[in-house]
Amino acid sequence: MTVLDNFSTLAGLAFCLGAVSVLYRLLFSPLRNVPGPRLAALSSIWLWVQDMTGNSPQSISKLHKSLGPIVRIGPNEISIDDIEIHNRVLYCQAPKYMKAAYFYDPFKTGPSGIFQSSEPKEHSTLRRLVSKPFSRKSVLQFEPEIWKSVDMLSDVLRQHGKANNTFDLSKMSRCLSLDFITNFTYGESMQAVLSPEFHDDVLDAFDSFAVSNFLFMMIPSLRQPSITLLSMLPFKVFQAIPSMRRRVQKALERYDSTGKSSSGFQPLLQAEHAASIAQNYPLSKDFLVADGLADIFAGTDTTSTTLTLTLNEIFSNPRVYGRLHAELKRAIPNPSDTAELSNLESLPYLAACVKEGLRFSTPVRSRLPRVTPESGLTYGKHFIPSGTFISSSPYLMNYNETVFPDPCTYKPERWLLDNPAEIKQLDNCWAPFSKGSRGCIGINLAMAEIYITIAAIVRRFELVEKKFRELKIREIFGVIFDEPLVMKLKSVQE
Ligand code: HEM
Repeated sequence: MTVLDNFSTLAGLAFCLGAVSVLYRLLFSPLRNVPGPRLAALSSIWLWVQDMTGNSPQSISKLHKSLGPIVRIGPNEISIDDIEIHNRVLYCQAPKYMKAAYFYDPFKTGPSGIFQSSEPKEHSTLRRLVSKPFSRKSVLQFEPEIWKSVDMLSDVLRQHGKANNTFDLSKMSRCLSLDFITNFTYGESMQAVLSPEFHDDVLDAFDSFAVSNFLFMMIPSLRQPSITLLSMLPFKVFQAIPSMRRRVQKALERYDSTGKSSSGFQPLLQAEHAASIAQNYPLSKDFLVADGLADIFAGTDTTSTTLTLTLNEIFSNPRVYGRLHAELKRAIPNPSDTAELSNLESLPYLAACVKEGLRFSTPVRSRLPRVTPESGLTYGKHFIPSGTFISSSPYLMNYNETVFPDPCTYKPERWLLDNPAEIKQLDNCWAPFSKGSRGCIGINLAMAEIYITIAAIVRRFELVEKKFRELKIREIFGVIFDEPLVMKLKSVQE
């Protein structure tokens, strides 16, 4: 046999296999009757293209609007738009549906941490180890640190105001969130709000990481060699993550000799390390570093997206700004003063602005895929067999037109209801942090950061002008702003 003969035999075989697989996926797969695009049923490329172009939440939502609550979005993947399935089946307290490794593995920066872990026992042990530092009590001990960062930012914004300078709201929020989370994770704020034009290389590195994740999802074998190769290149953006890793490593080395701060606050990694020893579940340094980096990644662009989009809506809408500013003026008579978080939380209009801001911004919009367990799932006339990837998303919940009419409009008033049953109905569908035992562990921290930042910035500043017309957003696991959100603020004159 010649080389050419071998090649044609192989090509023929590949063609036959391809044809059989196409026929199977379209005509014989147990998902064949679930409606959806033909291309999605045939190949994962349809979904991958939606992911890479930053359109998947909207595309999947459109499919649901035209085809109903269950749609096929991949050869072995479906999406369900149903509040009960979201809250009671997929993202509940004791889920039988585990995270899909194909989607979560690319987020690994070392050994599998809380975010990626798909083994229930391991996950609940890891989550127990950090339950204390993420508790409301610990976040209250961290509160003075949040104010320190917000005060530092306010000084920078005052200088910009005096000099009549513009700045990019999204970059500002990202720097502030990075300062919060680095301080919370390893006890040292990056002080990124002081960097010229709110530019920090770490944030550029996060963007490349998010985009490359979806590439690695398609071709997992590319991941490790690419990371090793890129980290050897002398460009700042590729050095940013290794440099952050070194900061976390150094902080870990210090912990043996340092204690808590005067407010009682103990950095997350220090608390996690201590809990692992106390609970006889030793964690390696590699694990702690990887977990710290994952927390920094998870806690930066999520919080900053909510800050960016909420502040933009408040400043753009004089009625909302006027009402919120008046409420804050009564609560904080001197604008440069701080206020206790619990006092801020009791302000009804601020609470409505924050809740609506989290709904409207939905920083994690993506599907959150899980694996159907052995029992399978019967949904309507469809039986979903074990092993099928199945998802819903915070976006489908927060943009549900029945519960939140006119969902693309920021309306804090929708939360100002007298009837507790009506509020409960909204809360049932409000899912920016997802729900259940795999829901966001950083919720107390994020809420504190958002309340304090919005209260301080709206109390202290007013809009001079906005230099952009519309928001251009893509969603690549987090929200990416394609246009700079350039604006000018000035200090409020009392
Ligand atoms: C507005 C801010 C935030 C939003 C909207 C948000 C949203 C979410 C969502 C939707 C999930 C579920 C992801 C999934 O099922 O795959 C999640 C998980 C998680 N978040 Fe957040 N997050 C925010 C802030 C934070 C902060 C500040 C941290 C601090 C480190 C954090 C750490 C985590 C971790 C570790 C998980 C994984 C939890 C687990 O699997 O048990 N998040 N977050």
